[in-house]
Amino acid sequence: MSLKDVFLKNPDRRYIMFGGKGGLGKTTFSAATGYWLASQGKRVLVFSVDPQASLTDIFQRDIFGKGPVKIMDNLWAQEIDADGHIKAYQNEIRKKILDMYGLPAVPEEIESYIQAASAEPAMEESAIFDAVVDVVVKGDYDYYIYDLVPLGHALYYLSMAKVYDEWINKVTHLREEMREYEEMVSRLKREKETEQDQILGELQYIKQRINASSAILTDKAKTAFFFVVVPEQMIITDTKKAAGLFAQFDVPIGGYVVNRVIPRELLEQKVPDYLRNRIQMQDGYLADIRSTFGEGVLALVPELERDVTGLPMIEKLAGIMYGS
Ligand SMILES: Nc1ncnc2c1ncn2[C@@H]1O[C@H](COP(=O)(O)OP(=O)(O)O)[C@@H](O)[C@H]1O
Ligand SMILES: [Mg+2]
Repeated sequence: MSLKDVFLKNPDRRYIMFGGKGGLGKTTFSAATGYWLASQGKRVLVFSVDPQASLTDIFQRDIFGKGPVKIMDNLWAQEIDADGHIKAYQNEIRKKILDMYGLPAVPEEIESYIQAASAEPAMEESAIFDAVVDVVVKGDYDYYIYDLVPLGHALYYLSMAKVYDEWINKVTHLREEMREYEEMVSRLKREKETEQDQILGELQYIKQRINASSAILTDKAKTAFFFVVVPEQMIITDTKKAAGLFAQFDVPIGGYVVNRVIPRELLEQKVPDYLRNRIQMQDGYLADIRSTFGEGVLALVPELERDVTGLPMIEKLAGIMYGS
């Protein structure tokens, strides 16, 4: 089956991800896929949480932290600014403190606590997670193409969704148990709604959001995760491992797309031994890829004559990947 067939046969798979090591072509394939789907009349959002502002580079537009930016008919791109989200969150906390205690300024001690908490990597992760959930839960587009940062991060992201979920389940359960006692106590005290009810409400809200997004990520009917591979030994080995891990997290693997294949037509010309050898080497690895991933291999994408940046190059690549 071709990459195009996979999309045409599974119109409900609206959450698309390209994964793989850095530099293999995830952003490039995300952009080309977005371009093709948009030219088929689908409303598409390509979005990224990569601080490297890679969509800004490929679309040659200033996108970072600007919300969804229209690229062409039906195609939008968005780069989520995680630092910006953390800053907004900090301000929200400051404002709450000022309002609650009617203070003119945030006390130094509390300020340093807010600063320290924001330096935690977990804080950045959760800001990113929150932003992604926001985008996905809103549901304004036909297709969401999530331009992933390298695999380790993607796995972390997914495992976090699972861990979060388990953690919140436990806490929610505990809180529910406690509430029964609290209600008894507050009935005695004749209080109606306890503060704890609000906390429980907040937790259930978070849980419901996380469930919504991790359910999407692991829903075979709605999600497709494509691995980007290149014909190189190390990458093939890593991809095998990653595919195993992804299976453990129930991430539905849509298939494999091989990038940077040196065009075989070159052999018809007079080529130096150097290139002939490289092509021969790739042939070996391509055979390995086929025997390992079998029917899962959906497309072989040639190494183009230059980097893929700007709409004309993206269009050219989309034509190659989706055959038009
Ligand atoms: N088939 C290709 N032909 C030519 N250049 C490519 C091809 N695929 C990717 N590139 C270039 O390789 C670089 C890395 O690709 P990119 O999509 O940014 O990788 P990733 O997002 O996986 O880190 C970019 O400069 C891109 O333009
Ligand atoms: Mg990238």
